Amino acid sequence: MKILAINGSHRKGKNTARLLAAVLEEARSLGAETELLELTDYHIKPCIACNRCLRAIACSIRDDDMQALAEKMLAADAIVLGSPVYIANVTGLMKNFMDRTRWLHMVKNVLHGKVGAAVTHAGLRNGGQEFTQMIMEHYLASHGMIVVDSRDQEGRVYNHGVMGTLFGDLDGDNPVWKRSVEEDALALHECRTLGRNIVRQLQILSAVAKD
Ligand SMILES: Cc1cc2nc3c(=O)[nH]c(=O)nc-3n(C[C@H](O)[C@H](O)[C@H](O)COP(=O)(O)O)c2cc1C
Repeated sequence: MKILAINGSHRKGKNTARLLAAVLEEARSLGAETELLELTDYHIKPCIACNRCLRAIACSIRDDDMQALAEKMLAADAIVLGSPVYIANVTGLMKNFMDRTRWLHMVKNVLHGKVGAAVTHAGLRNGGQEFTQMIMEHYLASHGMIVVDSRDQEGRVYNHGVMGTLFGDLDGDNPVWKRSVEEDALALHECRTLGRNIVRQLQILSAVAKD
């Protein structure tokens, strides 16, 4: 059971990375093998819109790290995307990465049947997390992945997904910011339930495959 987390933050090891790590920690405690990769560590050229992927399961750009990333995705049973909100959207890094995976679902849906999930983090309390999560979940679904969310199996619903925020509260008219996502108990709680839900979904799929 391999779970790959991909962080689209332009800042390595910060809030979004921490959320992804919390999802993976929970999954690891249930027996999963995990890896967290940072897109900032990879050289990814922008898509040149040559449309080669409309005719072949291939991308014409070969001289960057995208092939290595695709191999990691292909080897994973589940893929968790993480992006901070940048102007109510995923980051430029995440979008660039998404564009370059077009060849994985044009001629054939190569990632079909894998489990997918998304986590987001933003400065504001409602700073675009839901849009950003939707964009990533739509991307995962468009690759034929089974999208899992952080809804608690016991029916305790506190939030519609892993959506961290730095906003703490108002002190009069002045915002009080959290120092980091470590102070966001709700987001970390959602990460743990998401980790459990991913593992549960993978167990269901594995039982079905054995039948
Ligand atoms: C270019 C840019 C655009 C941003 N746009 C938004 C936004 O639309 N809404 C918001 O709440 N926060 C916005 N932020 C704040 C980030 O989402 C926030 O700092 C987040 O915690 C960064 O995640 P990280 O710690 O993983 O890098 C923006 C930050 C940057 C750099």
